[in-house]
Parts: sequence; structure tokens; C-alpha cells
Amino acid sequence: MTNNANTTPNTAPSTTPDLFLVAGATGTVGRQTVRELLSRGHLVRALTRDPDKADFSDFSGSGDGVEVVRGDLADPASLVPALEGVTGLHLITFDGGGFAALETGPEIVELAAKAGVRRITVLNGGGDTPLQDAVMAGDIAWTVLMPVEFMANALEWAQGIRADDTVREPFVGRLSAMVHEGDIGAVAAVALSEDGHGGKSYLITGPEALTIQDKADALAAARGREIEVVELTEAQALEQWRAAGQPEEVIGFLLEVYGNTPPEGRTPIGTVAEVTGRPARTFAQWAAENADAFRRV
Ligand SMILES: NC(=O)c1ccc[n+]([C@@H]2O[C@H](COP(=O)([O-])OP(=O)(O)OC[C@H]3O[C@@H](n4cnc5c(N)ncnc54)[C@H](OP(=O)(O)O)[C@@H]3O)[C@@H](O)[C@H]2O)c1
Repeated sequence: MTNNANTTPNTAPSTTPDLFLVAGATGTVGRQTVRELLSRGHLVRALTRDPDKADFSDFSGSGDGVEVVRGDLADPASLVPALEGVTGLHLITFDGGGFAALETGPEIVELAAKAGVRRITVLNGGGDTPLQDAVMAGDIAWTVLMPVEFMANALEWAQGIRADDTVREPFVGRLSAMVHEGDIGAVAAVALSEDGHGGKSYLITGPEALTIQDKADALAAARGREIEVVELTEAQALEQWRAAGQPEEVIGFLLEVYGNTPPEGRTPIGTVAEVTGRPARTFAQWAAENADAFRRV
């Protein structure tokens, strides 16, 4: 007799979905981490300092699995209710828009251990940071996520492209193995919810190394209209970044990595496929998903 769902008694044990706390949930990577955890059937608490601005209603259906909770990583006591019943915790290393390094790592790790958290992922903020050091020194299984440039950074070009079909950048020949933010979220979700990733630091890249022109071409194809690339001098780039309100240390970092991109920033590796079992998404896919942001209305 054929075994099928109609004739087999339901003997599967009932399982309760695991609950995860995601910091940075209103940001680029945290939002995708929330999405990926939900898509794996888990429940998520989305941490924010301002619950009014957190909106997951576009997560069709699965958005019901998100509970928005108020908390501030700079004020560890505010995290106590949010940590209750949590299996895994996703952390960022900085405090606020100026990207100041969080110094509260030891307290956060202690509270997480008390709450019974079993796994922590940390979104690396460039090199060692006090919070990352505290997580790695603690007893909870940790995974450090070290993504290269996010594809989402291309959104910084949206206004210029909509205005006059132009991208203005310095160092236009530089190569970047930029990664889809959804793939960073997917690696985070797997590392948080499955065994085998503790004590590992994952460099996370996209599937190809692209120049500025390659990216502009992909965006042009996605929006159905040409884009011109104009190379800026370093001085012009500084002026543009300052006018956009970039902090000086971010500007210094950009000059360094754009002018002299290290091999790991421009060499695609297989982390996304190895950890998630799915190929890393291309920039052409990202461009198709985000084409409207680059179209004139
Ligand atoms: N952009 C890149 O190409 C790139 C590449 C590699 C690594 N990175 C690293 O990625 C990180 C930035 O990630 P992202 O772009 O996903 O962030 P983002 O979009 O800038 O969002 C920042 C998030 O941090 C949260 N936040 C800030 N301070 C907080 C605090 N004190 N307590 C709780 N939440 C706080 C904010 O939440 P609320 O405002 O809702 O509270 C917001 O969700 C940085 O560490 C950067 O170094 C970036």
C-alpha cells in the first residue's frame, strides 16, 4: 500500500518554534535576518530603540511571527524582557548612526547566558570591536559574520541616477565581490538556528567581482534606461561624501577600501552556498528586485 498523508496517522511530535532576538532589525542586514528566520518557521523578536518606526507588514503572512520590542544595546538592562525565552541572538557592534563601538558586550553576554541563549551571531563592524571580543570570550556558541560590501550600498546612487542617469564615483575600476544583504541574513539565520557554526568567522561575499561600470550596466538593464559613469577625483569624492553627511571615520574607511580594496573584498568565495545550500545572489538579481528605486517617476 502506498504511504500517503491521508492514510498515515499523524505521529509527528508537536514542536514549538524557536524564538530569536534580532538587533539591528530595522536596518539593512537585521531586517533580512528577521525575514530569513521567519521563512524557516521561527519566531522573531525585532529589537529597536523606536518601535514606531519598525514595520514588517510587507513580510507577506510570515510578518505575523514578528514581535517588535523596545531595547537599547547601550543600556543592557533594557534587554532583559526581550531576552526571555530566546534561543538565539543576533548582534551588531555599534551604537547609533555615528557607528560608535558598543562597550556593553560583557553585560549583554552575561544577560544572554542567564536567559539561556544558546547561539549568538555578530555582524562584524570592521576588525575587532569590544562587543565582538566579549561575545568570542563568552561561553555561548558564537558565529562572526564578516560580509564584504553590501549590494544595498548601490541605493546611495538612486537619487543621482533618477536625477540625470549618472553615477559619480572615485576609483571606478575597483572590483568588489559585493554581497546581497539577503544572503547575509540567510547565513545569520542558519548559524543561529543550526548546529555546526559555533566558533566560526565567516567571510561572506557575492558570486562575482564587479566594477562600477558592471554595476551601472546591471542597474541600467533592470530599469530599462542607460546610466553614465563619471569618475570623480578623490577631492570631489570627499566633497560628495561630506555633503551626504558621512562621518569622517567612515570617509577615511571608504577612501582606504575603495583606493586599495583588499583581496577579500574583491574575491568571491563560496560561504553563502556552503552555509545555506543556495547559491549567492547576483547583482543582476539585486538590481531587478530594486529597479523601481532607480526609475524616474
Ligand atoms: N555597508 C556595507 O557595505 C558594510 C559591509 C560590511 C560590514 N558592514 C557593517 O554593517 C553594520 C551596519 O549594518 P546595517 O547596514 O545593517 O545597519 P543599518 O542599516 O545602518 O541599521 C542600523 C541598525 O542598528 C540599530 N541600532 C543602532 N544602535 C542601536 C542600539 N544602541 N541599540 C539597538 N539597536 C541599535 C538600529 O535600530 P533602531 O534605530 O531601530 O534602534 C538599526 O536597525 C556596521 O557594523 C558596518 O560596519 C557594512
